[in-house]
This record gives sequence, C-alpha cells and structure tokens, in this order.
Amino acid sequence: MAKKLWGGRFKKGAHPLFERFGSSIGTDARLAECDLIGSFLHVCVLCGSGLLTRSESLSLKKAIQSLLADAHNGILKIDPSCEDIHTCIQNLLEKKCGKTVLKLQTCRSRNDQVVFDTRFYCLEESVVLHRMLGALNKSLKALGKQHMGLVIPGYTHMQHAQPIYFKDYCSAYEAMFGEDAARLECFVGRLELTLGSGALAGTPIPASVYKKAIKTALKELGLDEPLYEVLPPKNSLVVVSDRDFVAELLSILSIIGMHVSRLCEDLILWSTKEFDFIELGDEFCTGSSLMPQKKNPDALELMRGATGILYGNLMSVLTMLKGLPLSYNRDLQWDKTPLFSSLDIVRYEVVILAELFKSIKVKKENIEKQLKDESLYATDLADLLVSKGVPFGVAHEAIGRLIRYALTKNILIRDMSELELKQFSAHFSRAEVLKSLDPGFSVSLKKSIRRG
Ligand code: ARG
Repeated sequence: MAKKLWGGRFKKGAHPLFERFGSSIGTDARLAECDLIGSFLHVCVLCGSGLLTRSESLSLKKAIQSLLADAHNGILKIDPSCEDIHTCIQNLLEKKCGKTVLKLQTCRSRNDQVVFDTRFYCLEESVVLHRMLGALNKSLKALGKQHMGLVIPGYTHMQHAQPIYFKDYCSAYEAMFGEDAARLECFVGRLELTLGSGALAGTPIPASVYKKAIKTALKELGLDEPLYEVLPPKNSLVVVSDRDFVAELLSILSIIGMHVSRLCEDLILWSTKEFDFIELGDEFCTGSSLMPQKKNPDALELMRGATGILYGNLMSVLTMLKGLPLSYNRDLQWDKTPLFSSLDIVRYEVVILAELFKSIKVKKENIEKQLKDESLYATDLADLLVSKGVPFGVAHEAIGRLIRYALTKNILIRDMSELELKQFSAHFSRAEVLKSLDPGFSVSLKKSIRRG
C-alpha cells in the first residue's frame, strides 16, 4: 500500500478488506487534472500568505505543471495502491520536490479538495456536453431540411391522429435538446468553484489572500475566464458537505436520457416491418447469431435501456444525501461512480445519435401509403363544416357518423357520391371533401404554429 496522508494517530494499519473497500483511486483517478489545478491554486495561496517560500512555491508549481502535462497527454502514472487521487498526486509530487511537499497539505483537507475537483470536472463536462448537444441539433435540423415538404402521420395514443410535417417532428426534438442545453447553461452559470473550506471550518488564511493569490494563479494557468472564477467559501460547511450540484447535473442528464429514449422508441417502431417508415444505417444495427435475416436496432435499444441507469444514478445520489448530518461524511465518496457513469452514457448517446441521423433512409412510399388513411383527415372535415357555420359539436358528430359508415360499409370516403355525403351534412360538396383528404392541404391549414 502506498503512503497515506494520515496515520500518526493509529497503532494498526487498515484491515485489507476495508483498505480495498475504502479505496477510491479506481474511480477518482479521472479527477487528476482537476486535483492538480486545485493544488496549483493552493500553492499560490500558501505562498501569498507566507506559509511557503517563493522557491518552495516555484518548485511545487513546476512539479505540478509537469504532472499536468502528463495528465493532459494521458501518461500520468497513477499508483493503484494509493487511497485516492489526492494521495497519489501528493506522492508523485514528493518524488519531484522531496520534503517540500509535506507543506502542501497546510490549511487544506481532502474534504475541500474533492469538492473543488468534482465541481471543476462537472463544469468542464457540462461545457463539452453543451457543445455536443449543439452538434446533435444541427444533425436533426439537417435531417428535417433534407425532407422539407414531407408529411407523415402524427400520432396520439399511438393511433393515427392528424398529418404533420416530418421536419416538425425533427424540430420537436430540437426543442427538447435545446431546453436541455439551456438547463446545462443555467447549471454552469450557478456552479461556484471555491477553495479555502479546510476540513469544514475554514482556514487561518484570510479570504482576501485567497482571492488575490487565486486570481494570479488562474492567469498563470491560462484559466482567467469568468467561467473558471474560484472564490473562498461563503459557508465552508455547505461546501464540504454539499453534493446538490451532483444531483442537479444527474437530473439534467436523466432528462436528456429520457428525451433520447423517447426518440429511440419512435425510431425503433418506425424501422419495424409493420411501420417501415425508415431504414437505419447498417453501422448502427446488429445481426442475429441464429436468424440470418435479422437487422436489429441495437444502438437505439441500448440508448433506451440506459435510461434506467441514468435514473438509478440520480436516485443513488439523492438517497446517499438524504439523512446526512452536516458536514462532510465519507458516504459522499459514493457520488463519483454514478456521476461518471451518467456523464459517459449521455456523452455517447449524444454523439451516436448525431451520427445515426445521417444514416437514416426515409421510405416515402410507405409513409404515403399510411397517409391514405382517411381517418387522419376527420378533424379537417369537421373544420370544413365549421367554416360553413356548423357548430363544432354538430360537425364532430356528423364526421364521426361518416367515419363509422365508411368503416362498416368497408368503403372509402373519397369513393362516396355527393348524395351519400350529404346524408351526413347538407353542407358537404364532394369536391371540397376530396380536397380535404390531402396531407399537404391538411398541414397547410394549420396556421397557429410560430414558424421561422
Ligand atoms: N475520497 C473522498 C471523497 O470522495 C475524499 C477524501 C476525504 N476523506 C476523508 N476521510 N476525509 O469524498
């Protein structure tokens, strides 16, 4: 086992089982870069307050910068026998600057470090995901544009309802993903990065020193944008014990996953033999080891199925937080597995979907066949009667009877004579009825939508 950041008070070492159970290096190694950035800021704070000499500070900063470069290039040597990433980095720094590193933990606790790291990680991931959602919406927009005038049956209760533009279907999801992006923006806007909470009670270094030293340190790191502002805490108890930001991000990720899942469900249905509205690209499907004919929409099913994991991850963090006394408790270590799991899933989903849209072949002939179903135009026929002064309730009843008549007689409305039609309303003219049974005409009648 690697050297720990504590131990003097203990006669015995940790039980090997507890050692393994309590170790978080397997998960929090991902926070290496964030932890190094936090350490760099802390070194500057210590130097600013006179707790480190200039040369000690320079040597630590140089070592941190070189580890940052390694982490950036994916070659940072993570020792799996360390208790956590903070210990691992401390030990790596010791190799580079010797005993000076023993001053690094002055006025600092892992309780504060881990929050800084996790918040910083959430910030960066949210910014990336926001960009990815933009690319996904571009791809959705392109799909809608590609099939500009295409009309498809719209459904309620999974029954034929009214004709709609295919591009409106696409922009419905654009709107949902747009909301998700706005939620992320709002989350990032409120996510505060802080340093200086100590274990829970704050540290002896004045807030003004933190502010000044951190400002210059961020500039040195090239992180001097408002996005990366780091401040001393307003309430250190909240900082070390709060994981609301994790729950909030997990909830945003759950909503994104729910949107993805609903979209997948439609695409899976549309690619069945029964619908046959679209064909998915081979590159997002798999075959069967037994049935040679199969082309299964596994990518979509995996995304739909992953929603359970996303919701589960949110529930696990909310449940972990429930009943925790102030302030830090080790329970909080369990926030990272669900957080990373959800971020990974949603990142994959968003990039895969953007690519998958490009592979979709729309089968217009099959869609047109479905648009022949006259029940799709029932509301338009009722509106036609309304335009002649018939109260909607009366028109609704008349069209209902007309549809039932066609169904029982097994005939089409378009094949009925003027006389036959007039049985249902004296206001019917065959020419107008025929005009109403048209998908393009139907969508052109809908004027309440704010376009453009
Ligand atoms: N690994 C811990 C976490 O994720 C941080 C370390 C704090 N440990 C401690 N015993 N105070 O929350």
